[in-house]
Amino acid sequence: MKSLTVVKFGGSLIRNPQAQAKFLKELAVISQRQRIILVHGGSPEINSMLEKFSVKSKFVNGLRYTDSNALDVVELALSGKVNRIITTGLIKNGASAVGISGKDGKSVICKQVKELGLVGEPIKVNKKLIEILIDSDFLPVIASIASDAKGNVMNVNADVLAAAIAVAFKAGKLIFLTDVHGVFDKNKKSINEIRVKDINALIKDETITGGMIPKIKSCADSIKKGVKEVWIADGASSIKNIKGTVIKK
Ligand SMILES: Nc1ncnc2c1ncn2[C@@H]1O[C@H](COP(=O)(O)OP(=O)(O)OP(=O)(O)O)[C@@H](O)[C@H]1O
Ligand SMILES: [Mg+2]
Repeated sequence: MKSLTVVKFGGSLIRNPQAQAKFLKELAVISQRQRIILVHGGSPEINSMLEKFSVKSKFVNGLRYTDSNALDVVELALSGKVNRIITTGLIKNGASAVGISGKDGKSVICKQVKELGLVGEPIKVNKKLIEILIDSDFLPVIASIASDAKGNVMNVNADVLAAAIAVAFKAGKLIFLTDVHGVFDKNKKSINEIRVKDINALIKDETITGGMIPKIKSCADSIKKGVKEVWIADGASSIKNIKGTVIKK
């Protein structure tokens, strides 16, 4: 069985057309030789749509509080816009990309994180749909929306979703592409390597804040659950020749 890589494309990169074009081109080529699952977020698109529809939202430890009005907008931005942009871009570059969300095919089942409203935490990954796609040489592009066991739609942090999928598929590699060169230290210098045991201290002393919190926690979680190689890197850099922060056991 060819090795599998899960790539999480940060929504933060959607506003960087150069990085986006380079990424889509490179991934389209790689996906023809290697099994890839792509997961994406979409914070800037979500934020601008929330503003457009005058829906308020707030963040708690880097995670978005989502009420039912916000959820409609979140799904529209993620599945209706960002997922379309990425899937179309990959298809234009020759990849057989298929846009779905974690909700489709009941692929990702969540339990509600009540203090965040309609936000879900993955508790089960049903691999069937995604497996059919990758086994048939399609490239799944997964928006970070899922549902609970009853089918109630929920917003899921895309980093958390990517980690859950990487663990379920026993991915060899998990790469988080974002809008920074890696995890920065207090002097804004990118750290080459972080050990799982050191992560809590970096959050506690506020070296790591905001959207980097769910990302680094997702790294730790996936490593503990068996993913061998985990990176946080800049979306503008190459995924073949990845440079950034590697997270190690
Ligand atoms: N120590 C740190 N090193 C690097 N970035 C950090 C750190 N602490 C906080 N951050 C912030 O985390 C951000 C990346 O997370 P963010 O959630 O914004 O992006 P993303 O996950 O790539 O996009 P999306 O959430 O839309 O998928 C950086 O732009 C930076 O502002
Ligand atoms: Mg994020």
